[in-house]
Parts: sequence; C-alpha cells; structure tokens
Amino acid sequence: MKFFVDTADVNDIRELEDAGLIDGVTTNPSLILKANRPMKEVIAEICEVTPGPVSAEVTALEAEEMVREGRILAEIADNVCVKLPLTLDGLKACKTLTDDGFQTNVTLCFSATQALLAAKAGATYISPFIGRLDDMNIDGMQLIADIRRIYDNYDFETEILAASIRTINHVREAALLGADVATVPPSTLKALVKHPLTDKGLEQFLADWKKTGQSI
Ligand code: E4P
Repeated sequence: MKFFVDTADVNDIRELEDAGLIDGVTTNPSLILKANRPMKEVIAEICEVTPGPVSAEVTALEAEEMVREGRILAEIADNVCVKLPLTLDGLKACKTLTDDGFQTNVTLCFSATQALLAAKAGATYISPFIGRLDDMNIDGMQLIADIRRIYDNYDFETEILAASIRTINHVREAALLGADVATVPPSTLKALVKHPLTDKGLEQFLADWKKTGQSI
C-alpha cells in the first residue's frame, strides 16, 4: 500500500519524505487555506521535496475551465496530479486531461457508482472519503470494499486512494480491503509508528543493556 500525506505543510512533508514514509502528497483548497501561502508557490515547493504525485485541485466548475486550470497546475512540475471534483464536468475534464497524458485524481467520491464513472473517465486515482461518510453514520469502509470489487471485476486500472482518513484503524481497514493508497494527515501517519509495548520493551532492553556495562 502506498502512503500519501494529506497536507500542504511543507515542513511536515519534508520530515515524512526524509523518513522514507511517503509516496506522494494530496492537497485541497482547505489545506491551501490552512497553509496560508500562494497555491502555485506551495505546490512547486512540495513537488521539489517529493518525487511522488502531488495532487493539486482545480477550483472551476465548468469542464473547459477545469481543463485550462488543470494544464496550468500541471505546468508547475512533472509530478503534479490534477485533482478534479466528482461532477459531470469534473469527469469530462478528467477524460480530456487523462487523454492528454496528465495524472488525474477524482475527489469527493461518496458512492461506488461515482467511482465506476471516474474509472470509465480514465482517472489515475479515485478518492473515496471515508471519514466524512463515517461522520454521517455511513460505513466508509464498505465503500472501499465495493469499489475494490467493482474495479477488480472489470480490471480497471484506476487506483483506489482512500481519503478523509481520520484514525489508525481507518488505515488498517483500508489496507485489509486492498485500497491501493491511503492519504493520511501527518499526525495520523506519525501515530502509526507508536505502540505502548514497543516503548515499554525498548525501555527494558536499554535498562538491561546498561547493566551489561558494554558498548557497541
Ligand atoms: C483528500 O484528498 C482530501 O484532501 C482529504 O482526505 C479530506 O479529508 P477530510 O474529510 O478530513 O477533510
């Protein structure tokens, strides 16, 4: 499973990239707002920090304008992946940009049939939003399972990018269900490494090692 980090904070991205933990980055307009920096500047910097795909989202609503914005974003760097909303215009723009050889990420997916359409439009990635479904008491993981089955039934190459991940358990379940990628906030990604028994075990080993009086 690939890990993308879901942030526009370059310091967090650099730290995780240096640790070898990430394969790409996703951003959205809300994350750009949080970063409080000009979008094109921050996307360019992220693309220098990581060689993996960096999703940058268009903000137009009409297909032709989405394509125009997508081309501008894709010019920033070779590893920009154009992020488009799951609307009819978004799908049209996805088809055009994919046919032109750009990477695309269709976002705001909340149903398996939406995901089927995105695959037919040639999306490189489909982003089902797990956490936002869970917020409404709808099982987000069932959506991942349904999309996995549908894509496998028809050998679609679109990768399932589990998004709106809020917990370590979301990562675990998405991996068990065969999501190709999980995009995870930096804090959750860092929390994946933690286990109290690891800390306790390490403490004990170090205490015993000290008693041996040896050094390596
Ligand atoms: C995905 O690409 C989105 O940026 C993100 O995962 C949305 O997560 P949220 O529902 O926590 O805002």
